[in-house]
Amino acid sequence: MDERGATLQIGENSLDLPGIKANVGNDGLNISKLRPNHGIVTYDPGFANTASTRSTITYVDGNAGLLTHRGYPIEELANSCSFLEVAYLLLYGDLPTKRQLEAWQASMQRHSLLNEEMKRFFDAFPKRAHPMAILSSATNAISTFYEEYHNPNDEESVIESAQRLLAKMPTIAAFAYKKSTGFPYIYPRNDLRYVENFLHMMFALPTEEYHVDPVIAKALNVLLILHADHGQNCSTATVRFVGSSQANLFASVAAGMNALWGPLHGGANQAVIEMLSNIANDPNATTESAIARAKDKNDDFRLMGFGHRVYKNYDPRARILKKFADDVLDRVKGDDPLLKVAEELEYAALNDEYFSSRNLYPNVDFYSGIIFRALGFPVRMFTVLFAIGRLPGWIANWKEMTEDPDTRIARPRQIYLGETTREFIPLHKR
Ligand code: ACO
Repeated sequence: MDERGATLQIGENSLDLPGIKANVGNDGLNISKLRPNHGIVTYDPGFANTASTRSTITYVDGNAGLLTHRGYPIEELANSCSFLEVAYLLLYGDLPTKRQLEAWQASMQRHSLLNEEMKRFFDAFPKRAHPMAILSSATNAISTFYEEYHNPNDEESVIESAQRLLAKMPTIAAFAYKKSTGFPYIYPRNDLRYVENFLHMMFALPTEEYHVDPVIAKALNVLLILHADHGQNCSTATVRFVGSSQANLFASVAAGMNALWGPLHGGANQAVIEMLSNIANDPNATTESAIARAKDKNDDFRLMGFGHRVYKNYDPRARILKKFADDVLDRVKGDDPLLKVAEELEYAALNDEYFSSRNLYPNVDFYSGIIFRALGFPVRMFTVLFAIGRLPGWIANWKEMTEDPDTRIARPRQIYLGETTREFIPLHKR
């Protein structure tokens, strides 16, 4: 399609809809004059056919199973980069030079501490609190310490708040975990790299030396990269939506975390493990019964970790993770009966007409939980790990939104189906 776009005929009237040419992937039609000129809005549940923005960050080809960030295929980034390198790429548009990377790493180390007063926030949660609730609350709470960086139109403030969020997120996440265990918080250490520092804060105790296993650090690095960004998914769209009101970065990201928590989005990694454990442990639950329940339209059970709004092919992240799961298990734990259950379930689904006809394939969450488990993380931390990984994507999208001259406050329309004006009946007559 070129800039001439298309012409829409509505009764006697016609309206030209200008085209927007994509560099690759779906071209767009600009429908912004449809309502002002014709009083008609578009109806698109779940925004499945709506481009809410133009973007230069991430490209997903759902049919080919392709994912690139700033033009680089995810496979190459996962193979060759550190998570902070990818975060820099998403935020600034190019891979860092050696010097830029050193400065970037140093800034992450410098800002990793939380204000001591923040500890009271963690203390106030009940021990059983889900760490995702703590994570989003604490992310919102740290905004109160940085009011000077709240102006989204000030470039320096944006960078300062972005650096602080990225630097402090592993500390917040590890404190959320320590809260649930009752063990003392472990402070960040500036001699450790980003991922190692996080693992140290998670698993060390003040009473003994703790050495981070490089195999575990390397695996977690890959996992975080695989979660780093994914276009206009539910949580990223939420971050942009909230940010469009000029809410600060901390508040916008906290909202995105809440969107991520749902089991149809990032919460699926926890739900997958619960589903696989159920099949492994309950004699009445089998792969066959799980498949049958997922196909039954009267049952709200879904095969967790399967299906995707964009991918109608194997999710490239799941492809990497499937291979990686074997590798990681070999190196750190030896075996996990849930991997076998997952492989059986995948095989059964991929050979079932219901799933193949709907193009339902494993998504990133199908195998990630098995690896997180092998690395020693408790199930309730899985979505938190997803959030740490997705943070650079949220920030890059929020930044891109604030810099885009087309940005307006997000404010969709509706098609009203309720009562038209009714005569009011006073209380004593009802
Ligand atoms: N199990 C069983 N059936 C499914 C599944 C599933 N996991 N996913 C989709 N379907 C079916 C739907 O029932 C629907 O069938 P129908 O055409 O007969 O009505 C069809 O496939 C299309 O599904 P939709 O729900 O319309 O697809 P949508 O794009 O709205 O939803 C979603 C995508 C939410 C990911 C969905 O596939 C799902 O619920 N998957 C399970 C949860 C999950 O793994 N979420 C993680 C997604 S990846 C991520 O967020 C990181």
